[in-house]
Amino acid sequence: MESQPSFEQLIKEDRATRDSRKWRGSLLEYLELVRADPSITKLAHARVFGMITRGGSRDILETDEPRVKRLYKDDALKVYDFFRDEFFGIEKTISQIVRYFHSASLKGEESRQVLYLMGPVGSGKSSLSEKLQRGLEGLDPIYAIEGCPMFEEPLHLLPRHLRKEFEKMLGVHIEGDLCPVCRFRLKEEFGTRYEEFPVVAKYFSKRNRVGVGVVPPVDPNNQDTSVLIGSEDISKLDVYSEGDPRVLDLNGALNVGNRGMVEFIEVFKNETEYLHAMITATQEKIIPAPGRHGMVYVDTVIVAHSNEAEWQKFKADHTNEAILDRIVVVKVPYNLRLSEEVKIYQKIIRNSDFRAHVAPHTLEVASMFAILSRLEPSNKCDLMTKLKLYNGEEVVEKGKTKKLDVQELRDDTKREGMFGISTRFIMKALDNALSDNVEGNCINPINVREALINMVKEADLPDDTRKGHLEFLQDVLHKEYLELLEKEITKAFVYSYMEQAESLFQNYLDHAEAYVNKTKVKDRNTKEELTPDEGFLKSIEEQIATIGSAADGFRQEGIAYLWAGSRGGEKISYRSYEPLKEAIEKKLMSSVREISRVITKARTRDEDQSSKYDTMVQNLLENGYCPSCVHVVLKYAANNLWKD
Ligand SMILES: Nc1ncnc2c1ncn2[C@@H]1O[C@H](COP(=O)(O)OP(=O)(O)OP(=O)(O)O)[C@@H](O)[C@H]1O
Ligand SMILES: [Mg+2]
Repeated sequence: MESQPSFEQLIKEDRATRDSRKWRGSLLEYLELVRADPSITKLAHARVFGMITRGGSRDILETDEPRVKRLYKDDALKVYDFFRDEFFGIEKTISQIVRYFHSASLKGEESRQVLYLMGPVGSGKSSLSEKLQRGLEGLDPIYAIEGCPMFEEPLHLLPRHLRKEFEKMLGVHIEGDLCPVCRFRLKEEFGTRYEEFPVVAKYFSKRNRVGVGVVPPVDPNNQDTSVLIGSEDISKLDVYSEGDPRVLDLNGALNVGNRGMVEFIEVFKNETEYLHAMITATQEKIIPAPGRHGMVYVDTVIVAHSNEAEWQKFKADHTNEAILDRIVVVKVPYNLRLSEEVKIYQKIIRNSDFRAHVAPHTLEVASMFAILSRLEPSNKCDLMTKLKLYNGEEVVEKGKTKKLDVQELRDDTKREGMFGISTRFIMKALDNALSDNVEGNCINPINVREALINMVKEADLPDDTRKGHLEFLQDVLHKEYLELLEKEITKAFVYSYMEQAESLFQNYLDHAEAYVNKTKVKDRNTKEELTPDEGFLKSIEEQIATIGSAADGFRQEGIAYLWAGSRGGEKISYRSYEPLKEAIEKKLMSSVREISRVITKARTRDEDQSSKYDTMVQNLLENGYCPSCVHVVLKYAANNLWKD
């Protein structure tokens, strides 16, 4: 705490850094800045594209996660650092957004089209738009004509007949013309001496309405275009003559969003006339000034969003064709990957005031429900299998991995990801589960599933949808969770069986090593020379689905890894090599399962059983359970899992 600065110091330092970033000069000085770095004159789309890509990107396949590799082996998808920590499982959507900005930055047709995000409620449309806005706020300042309500590019001050020459000298293209306000000021205050016009550095700011404009859906009975293009100040109309730009309040969203972006929320809730201003702003890069003040040049990224129903309604109306042609549609479906869905809730929880304990598998179970509700049925497999395949898991059925191509499954669907349970619904369920368990201050798969069931029962849903949802919750997920729980409890018990684990491990090593080196195994007791027991090796490896030719590689890798470890002076135990540890634990589990059942259910335990039980509880506590939920899940297991 000692190193904390005093308040005064903090304020002073902040002021100093802010001051150092302030810049004010004449157009003449600004021209020198442009000569030194022409990129400061970037148009809006190019600025956003640079902002997204400057953090870098990498191929989605550049990862150690085999699940991701399996899923995306045929896709050349990129993951952008700019979005990476906040958006999960919508890499396709993001790459389409980036592609839009890329073409637009090269002044392709996209630079004159609206970016329209379409997707179901809570799929992240607003968050994507906000992310872009926050990105702008973090950028270096732009240079603008001082006092311009639209933060105009100062190069607009250069007279038409000299522009070619300036363009050559500066290495930039000059686009657009002065707004009526600046044109008037130039004439009145500077005459022909435009080079003296002051220029300032301006930071993007949503709150201060600098370079970021937002258009909420407007009441259809009260559609006033001033929200978009500003208005004439009636009080000033008495002072100035009609046509005097000093009456103009250029404070509409399209004005203040100049140089940056304008967001249209629930865009198709607005009247079509309203949308025309949006379209001319992108297509022609001009908007009308209020009253009789002609047209104003604008340079801004227009991002609009709404849900699919509104889009379909809008599309069905043929009078809207002209607008449709000027829209780049990017679908923002729900994420369908379990691991990523969990990350979404972790993120939301992290950013909220939610301060309760979250038991293991809670978010996983809730996420499973969300994803199941979003999947279209397939005749190739059940939905839980589909969920796992979409998550990149190998699904083992009757001892064999299921050979189903994820891409084929996806190709069979029509609207997958565009319907189902939203992220917000799940968050509400987590909140409800917590308010039902205030004293425990903990949410767990059991109370969250209950909360979900109650919410589904109360929700305004078509009967068959509700029925389907309840089946997921009461049947599919119930079974799935019990399986998870059984494994977890059994695993926790395995720690009472360390000795057995170690001896399995030693045996495996001896035999695997002999197998790999084509030698014999010397029995530790009898000193007998034995051929390596392949049947035994296999019985361990098959626990983690390592079979056939893969087994040879597994043995070699394992041996090499452990050898390297022991040469480095490490003490080798069955926990040293993760895949082998997992295999051994699984192998042990089958024999431990029965005993865990007996001990967990027992009302009275003998000394040995008590000590095993305590070790198990201790292990669960070390693995993320809290004193409250550990008892909830154990009771649940005793009542549901091992019914006699
Ligand atoms: N794929 C995702 N990755 C990360 N976060 C997500 C994702 N999808 C949704 N979210 C989160 O879910 C919450 C709801 O998203 P958001 O408000 O952006 O949805 P929306 O599409 O604008 O919904 P609506 O149509 O109701 O306005 C946000 O906290 C958002 O960050
Ligand atoms: Mg939204």
